Amino acid sequence: MGSEQITLLSQREIEGMRRAGQVAAELLNHVGKMVKPGISTLEINDEAERWTKERGFKSAPLGYGKPPFPKSICTSVNEVICHGIPSAKQILKEGDIINIDVTPIVDGYHGDTSRTFFVGTPSPTAKKLVEVTEECLYRGIAAVKPGGRIGDIGAAIQKYAEAEGFSVVRDFVGHGVSRVFHAPPQIPHYGRQGKGKRLRSGMVFTIEPMINEGTWKHDILSDGWTALTKDRKLSAQFEHTIAVTVDGVEILTKPQ
Ligand code: MF3
Ligand code: CO
Ligand code: CO
Repeated sequence: MGSEQITLLSQREIEGMRRAGQVAAELLNHVGKMVKPGISTLEINDEAERWTKERGFKSAPLGYGKPPFPKSICTSVNEVICHGIPSAKQILKEGDIINIDVTPIVDGYHGDTSRTFFVGTPSPTAKKLVEVTEECLYRGIAAVKPGGRIGDIGAAIQKYAEAEGFSVVRDFVGHGVSRVFHAPPQIPHYGRQGKGKRLRSGMVFTIEPMINEGTWKHDILSDGWTALTKDRKLSAQFEHTIAVTVDGVEILTKPQ
């Protein structure tokens, strides 16, 4: 980590990422409307796969990694931090929170974005956690500018999350993304302002803070993917793919 090459994208490549980002935002908006008590996470997955295929695109998660991720999107409910696997057996119920993470591949480029949705009416704690997590994402994005440092992002996120009484997940990070799903640099959601590699115009990466109600530590289920909080308390996440521009930042997965 840290020593690998960070690719700077050309204007043409950023245009490709813009298109992929828009498709990802549309897809997330589409499947987000399905979230309600009684629906299974597999039904949401299957609609995401159908929508993506219908447009001639591919779902990056399907078959990704080791063991191969078995579904087209990640659905992470309540104490699941990330990489939840959609299942017919998982039926959403009133009061749950669910992160849906989509990554369509459009003309070779990956658009990676996620949001946490409420199933019906959330508990006060769930509502606060989700609102703080979304604000963490936007504070992280606001810390991005050419000439700044990667540590500026995590510092902004950590300061706010901890002031609100929550913890920042350490073991999963944002990442460079383009034709490759997960590329350097790593973008921690904690850290120190002024530390880390310099941010340069043309860098494209995700910011995807995972914020927990209790401990930031996690367990992985025997499926090899599902990451959940060690104390089984709630976790929320929001993700955008962004580009560092000449004068600041562009959110590539922002819904139009
Ligand atoms: N979209 C996730 C991320 O934000 C990665 C999912 S990998 C998968 O990086 F294989 F679990 F889908
Ligand atoms: Co993602
Ligand atoms: Co990502």
